[in-house]
Formats: sequence, C-alpha cells, structure tokens
Amino acid sequence: MREIENVTFANLFATPLLAHVWAEGAALNEQLKDRILEHARKSPSKDLTNVGGWHSETGRLEFCGQAGERLVAHMREMTEEATLRVYAGFGKSPERLNWTLHAWANVNAAGDFNKMHTHPGATWSGVYYVDTGSSDRADEGTPLHLSDPNPSRTSIFFPELSSSNVLIKPEPGLMILFPSYVPHGVLPHRGDRERISIAFNVRKEPFP
Ligand SMILES: [Fe+2]
Repeated sequence: MREIENVTFANLFATPLLAHVWAEGAALNEQLKDRILEHARKSPSKDLTNVGGWHSETGRLEFCGQAGERLVAHMREMTEEATLRVYAGFGKSPERLNWTLHAWANVNAAGDFNKMHTHPGATWSGVYYVDTGSSDRADEGTPLHLSDPNPSRTSIFFPELSSSNVLIKPEPGLMILFPSYVPHGVLPHRGDRERISIAFNVRKEPFP
C-alpha cells in the first residue's frame, strides 16, 4: 500500500439543507390557500424581492388562523431538528435556544419571480409550498433556485464536478430549510394557476 493512501481527507464548510413533506400538509393547504388568497385580495403587496407577485406583511401568519399556527409550529420543529443536527456534526448538543420567527406568504402568477437574495440578520431561512401553481401533474413546477454561497468553489475548483446552482422542485406540503446566507431566488412562474408559498426566517437570540 502506498503511504499517501493514509492521508486524512475531509470536506470542510458544508452547507446544511433539510427537506420534509409534512403529513398534514394537504389538509393545511386547503385552509392556507383560501386564507392567503383572501388576504391578498384585500391587502396591498409589500415590495421586496418579488418582481410582480404578491408578498404579505411579515409576522406569524396571523391571517391564516389555526392552519397558520400549525405551520408555524412545524417551522419551529424543523428549526430545532436542523440545529440539533448541525451541532451533532460538531459532536455537541445545543443548550436551550431562543428563536425569533418571521413568516410571510408569496403569491406568484405567470411571469412573476423573486430576485436572487439572502436574508441577513437571520440564522435559518425556509419555504413551505401551499400550491405549486400548475394543474399539469407532469409539470416540474417553478423551482426554488439555491446558489452556492462560495461561488469560487464551483467556478474555479473542478467546475465539471458540481454546479453552483441547485433547483428544488416545489411540492404541496414540502418544507425546505437552509442557512440564511445561502443566495436563493424563484424563477419566473410558468404554471396555469398562482404559485403559493410561505417563506420564513428564524433568528437565534442573541444573534448570532
Ligand atoms: Fe428569500
């Protein structure tokens, strides 16, 4: 055996990503969809990362009633699980952490999109899908676009091996969670219905 085969090899600076389809997603989505569309009819859109589309105010989904409360509980559950796993990767377990959570709903009609951005001032960011906005079951849906936070990794370090862009296919009930420093955006919607999602930021207190 060659001596060099005993070399220590590690991958540093990993980026965590969690994905889960909540079992009660289908039931929640019926209520969430009605409440969000009703709210969108009555309230003007916030003008943030959305180009076209409707962006609700930021809060705890108060306009979504009980379904909103359930979803916020799932956001907290996923945050706790994600944090446990990140700590476990360092051989540690977190002490009891305090979180501030802000959530908002997005409705994108055909052609609407969300510019590439990050969420400074938060720890985790996530999204939950209420409606993919397409009645064609074969349609892949309008994806969430995640971009490598270290672009030089994929532009100069063996670019043939990995892409700096990852596309996540939306699915009703699917929740995604990633670190808030990961650049992300939503491609222009091409479905025949409105694409409805709920985004959220969770911030560890004290921050960071
Ligand atoms: Fe975002």
